[in-house]
Amino acid sequence: MRRVLYPGSFDPITNGHLDVINRAARLFNEVVVGVAINEDKQPLFTTVERVDLLKEVTKDIKNVKVVSFSGLLIDAVDNLKAFAVIRGLRAVSDFEFEFQMALMNRELSEECETIFMMPSTKYSFVSSRLIKEIANNNGDVTSFVPKLVDDTLKNKLK
Ligand code: PNS
Repeated sequence: MRRVLYPGSFDPITNGHLDVINRAARLFNEVVVGVAINEDKQPLFTTVERVDLLKEVTKDIKNVKVVSFSGLLIDAVDNLKAFAVIRGLRAVSDFEFEFQMALMNRELSEECETIFMMPSTKYSFVSSRLIKEIANNNGDVTSFVPKLVDDTLKNKLK
Protein backbone atom coordinates (compact mmCIF):
# COMPACT_ATOMS: atom_id res chain seq x y z
CA MET A 1 0.00 0.00 0.00
CA ARG A 2 1.69 3.16 -1.25
CA ARG A 3 0.28 6.04 0.83
CA VAL A 4 1.86 9.46 0.38
CA LEU A 5 1.42 12.67 2.35
CA TYR A 6 1.11 15.94 0.42
CA PRO A 7 1.58 18.64 3.09
CA GLY A 8 1.17 22.38 2.76
CA SER A 9 -0.54 25.51 3.96
CA PHE A 10 -3.14 25.47 1.15
CA ASP A 11 -4.24 29.00 2.03
CA PRO A 12 -6.10 28.56 -0.26
CA ILE A 13 -5.79 25.56 -2.58
CA THR A 14 -4.94 26.57 -6.16
CA ASN A 15 -5.25 24.78 -9.51
CA GLY A 16 -1.50 24.12 -9.24
CA HIS A 17 -2.02 22.17 -5.99
CA LEU A 18 -4.94 20.33 -7.56
CA ASP A 19 -2.82 19.40 -10.55
CA VAL A 20 -0.19 17.86 -8.23
CA ILE A 21 -2.91 16.00 -6.27
CA ASN A 22 -4.32 14.52 -9.50
CA ARG A 23 -0.88 13.43 -10.69
CA ALA A 24 -0.04 11.86 -7.33
CA ALA A 25 -3.43 10.11 -7.15
CA ARG A 26 -2.63 8.39 -10.46
CA LEU A 27 0.72 7.13 -9.16
CA PHE A 28 0.02 6.08 -5.57
CA ASN A 29 -2.68 4.05 -3.80
CA GLU A 30 -3.63 6.86 -1.44
CA VAL A 31 -2.81 10.56 -1.28
CA VAL A 32 -3.34 12.19 2.10
CA VAL A 33 -3.41 15.96 1.76
CA GLY A 34 -2.16 17.42 5.05
CA VAL A 35 -3.13 20.97 5.94
CA ALA A 36 -0.45 22.31 8.26
CA ILE A 37 -1.58 24.13 11.38
CA ASN A 38 1.13 26.71 12.01
CA GLU A 39 0.66 28.93 15.06
CA ASP A 40 3.26 31.40 13.72
CA LYS A 41 1.41 32.06 10.47
CA GLN A 42 -1.74 34.15 10.11
CA PRO A 43 -3.65 32.31 7.37
CA LEU A 44 -6.55 33.99 5.58
CA PHE A 45 -8.58 30.78 5.86
CA THR A 46 -8.96 28.87 9.11
CA THR A 47 -7.75 25.28 9.27
CA VAL A 48 -11.35 24.02 9.05
CA GLU A 49 -12.04 26.22 6.01
CA ARG A 50 -8.88 25.04 4.24
CA VAL A 51 -9.69 21.38 4.97
CA ASP A 52 -13.31 21.81 3.84
CA LEU A 53 -12.29 23.53 0.58
CA LEU A 54 -9.79 20.75 -0.14
CA LYS A 55 -12.35 18.04 0.67
CA GLU A 56 -14.91 19.60 -1.64
CA VAL A 57 -12.58 20.14 -4.61
CA THR A 58 -11.06 16.64 -4.35
CA LYS A 59 -14.32 14.79 -3.65
CA ASP A 60 -14.32 13.06 -7.06
CA ILE A 61 -10.80 11.67 -6.66
CA LYS A 62 -11.47 8.40 -4.87
CA ASN A 63 -8.02 7.82 -3.32
CA VAL A 64 -7.55 11.29 -1.81
CA LYS A 65 -8.06 12.04 1.88
CA VAL A 66 -7.72 15.40 3.59
CA VAL A 67 -6.50 15.89 7.17
CA SER A 68 -4.92 18.65 9.21
CA PHE A 69 -1.78 18.22 11.26
CA SER A 70 0.24 20.21 13.76
CA GLY A 71 3.82 19.71 14.84
CA LEU A 72 6.55 18.20 12.74
CA LEU A 73 5.98 16.82 9.28
CA ILE A 74 8.07 13.73 10.08
CA ASP A 75 5.66 12.91 12.92
CA ALA A 76 2.65 13.28 10.61
CA VAL A 77 4.37 10.96 8.12
CA ASP A 78 4.89 8.46 10.89
CA ASN A 79 1.36 8.73 12.34
CA LEU A 80 -0.26 8.38 8.92
CA LYS A 81 2.06 5.54 7.92
CA ALA A 82 2.93 7.36 4.72
CA PHE A 83 5.92 6.05 2.80
CA ALA A 84 6.87 9.41 1.30
CA VAL A 85 6.14 13.13 1.23
CA ILE A 86 5.02 14.77 -2.00
CA ARG A 87 6.00 18.36 -2.73
CA GLY A 88 5.32 20.38 -5.86
CA LEU A 89 8.19 22.10 -7.66
CA ARG A 90 7.02 24.94 -9.86
CA ALA A 91 10.33 26.47 -10.83
CA VAL A 92 14.02 26.43 -9.97
CA SER A 93 13.32 29.16 -7.42
CA ASP A 94 11.36 26.63 -5.33
CA PHE A 95 14.23 24.20 -5.37
CA GLU A 96 16.57 25.64 -2.75
CA PHE A 97 14.00 25.74 0.04
CA GLU A 98 12.49 22.39 -0.92
CA PHE A 99 15.91 20.75 -1.10
CA GLN A 100 16.79 22.07 2.36
CA MET A 101 13.48 20.93 3.82
CA ALA A 102 13.68 17.46 2.26
CA LEU A 103 17.21 16.91 3.55
CA MET A 104 16.39 18.26 7.01
CA ASN A 105 13.37 15.97 7.22
CA ARG A 106 15.52 13.01 6.25
CA GLU A 107 18.11 14.05 8.83
CA LEU A 108 15.35 14.10 11.48
CA SER A 109 13.89 10.81 10.30
CA GLU A 110 15.98 8.55 8.09
CA GLU A 111 12.93 6.95 6.43
CA CYS A 112 11.36 10.27 5.44
CA GLU A 113 11.69 10.40 1.65
CA THR A 114 10.44 13.37 -0.38
CA ILE A 115 9.18 12.99 -3.93
CA PHE A 116 8.99 16.14 -6.06
CA MET A 117 6.31 16.51 -8.68
CA MET A 118 6.05 19.25 -11.30
CA PRO A 119 2.63 20.76 -11.93
CA SER A 120 1.67 21.70 -15.48
CA THR A 121 3.68 24.69 -16.77
CA LYS A 122 0.44 26.66 -16.99
CA TYR A 123 0.50 26.81 -13.18
CA SER A 124 4.21 27.46 -12.74
CA PHE A 125 3.57 31.07 -11.66
CA VAL A 126 0.51 30.38 -9.49
CA SER A 127 0.88 30.67 -5.71
CA SER A 128 -1.58 31.06 -2.86
CA ARG A 129 0.17 34.27 -1.82
CA LEU A 130 -0.32 35.89 -5.25
CA ILE A 131 -3.91 34.65 -5.45
CA LYS A 132 -4.72 36.38 -2.15
CA GLU A 133 -2.96 39.58 -3.22
CA ILE A 134 -4.80 39.70 -6.56
CA ALA A 135 -8.19 38.84 -5.02
CA ASN A 136 -7.64 41.38 -2.26
CA ASN A 137 -7.23 44.06 -4.92
CA ASN A 138 -10.36 42.99 -6.81
CA GLY A 139 -8.39 41.17 -9.50
CA ASP A 140 -9.67 38.15 -11.39
CA VAL A 141 -8.31 34.79 -10.17
CA THR A 142 -10.91 32.55 -11.81
CA SER A 143 -8.39 30.73 -14.00
CA PHE A 144 -6.01 29.97 -11.15
CA VAL A 145 -8.29 28.46 -8.49
CA PRO A 146 -11.33 26.13 -8.41
CA LYS A 147 -14.66 27.98 -8.68
CA LEU A 148 -15.54 27.23 -5.06
CA VAL A 149 -12.30 28.84 -3.91
CA ASP A 150 -12.96 31.89 -6.08
CA ASP A 151 -16.46 32.25 -4.59
CA THR A 152 -15.19 31.73 -1.03
CA LEU A 153 -12.41 34.29 -1.55
CA LYS A 154 -14.92 36.83 -2.86
CA ASN A 155 -17.15 36.31 0.18
CA LYS A 156 -14.26 36.51 2.61
CA LEU A 157 -12.78 39.68 1.12
CA LYS A 158 -16.11 41.50 0.68
O1 PNS B 1 2.60 25.23 1.58
P1 PNS B 1 3.83 25.52 2.37
O2 PNS B 1 3.60 26.70 3.29
O3 PNS B 1 5.05 25.70 1.50
O4 PNS B 1 4.08 24.22 3.29
C1 PNS B 1 5.17 24.18 4.20
C2 PNS B 1 5.01 22.98 5.16
C3 PNS B 1 3.70 23.05 5.88
C4 PNS B 1 5.10 21.69 4.37
C5 PNS B 1 6.21 23.04 6.16
O5 PNS B 1 6.23 24.29 6.77
C6 PNS B 1 6.11 21.95 7.23
O6 PNS B 1 6.46 20.82 6.96
N1 PNS B 1 5.64 22.31 8.45
C7 PNS B 1 5.52 21.38 9.55
C8 PNS B 1 6.58 21.69 10.63
C9 PNS B 1 7.92 21.05 10.28
O7 PNS B 1 8.05 19.84 10.21
N2 PNS B 1 8.94 21.90 10.08
C10 PNS B 1 10.28 21.46 9.76
C11 PNS B 1 10.45 21.26 8.26
S1 PNS B 1 12.12 20.79 7.86
